Amino acid sequence: MEKNKQIKNKRWAWVLTGSGHFFNESITLIKDIKNIDLFISKAAEEVLVMYKKKDALPEAIKIFKDNTSSSVPVGQFYRGIYHTLVMAPTSSNTVAKCVYGISDNLATNVFAQSGKCKVECIFFPCDTAPELITRSPKGFVDVYPRNIDLENVEKLKKFERTTVVLSHKELKKEIENRKKWLKKFSF
Ligand SMILES: Cc1cc2nc3c(=O)[nH]c(=O)nc-3n(C[C@H](O)[C@H](O)[C@H](O)COP(=O)(O)O)c2cc1C
Repeated sequence: MEKNKQIKNKRWAWVLTGSGHFFNESITLIKDIKNIDLFISKAAEEVLVMYKKKDALPEAIKIFKDNTSSSVPVGQFYRGIYHTLVMAPTSSNTVAKCVYGISDNLATNVFAQSGKCKVECIFFPCDTAPELITRSPKGFVDVYPRNIDLENVEKLKKFERTTVVLSHKELKKEIENRKKWLKKFSF
């Protein structure tokens, strides 16, 4: 019973990076989640403006920006306030840093520290196939991820407590599954 109560009171954490791949669709998913905190990379802050989504986020969502050298907000993970981390959409830059254990900014620190706090992670990397179509602020463009980008995604799949999703549909499904799991603790 005590465990149920603890999970019920915990929150979602979502990391937004500077990847435009399903960026707008990710914002829609974020808006549909209750009890969520957003951690945004410096690039994501710019991309939010470019995709005209800066004012699309409800005021109730707490946004943590990357404005400290030591990523002060990651302390929240050590207070055990999150049950789930979502990294979506994730740029090739952040994926590369994550798989090599680098934590030198807010996005990569959230991934590293939440992992060290045993928080379950749903991870949507942008480079999911050798050929992709993605939405830029000025329309759709073709993208051809490099071998290194695809190899890094394979490495990511080996991380503990990390579910890698390779499409927006899969991301949506994993979030729904997690919401169903959470319902077991609401009474
Ligand atoms: C409009 C826009 C869209 C972008 N989309 C992507 C993308 O889909 N994938 C990617 O790897 N980088 C993309 N970038 C480049 C990243 O923002 C850039 O690599 C940045 O350094 C990533 O920083 P972060 O990983 O700290 O968020 C995009 C940049 C812009 C301006």
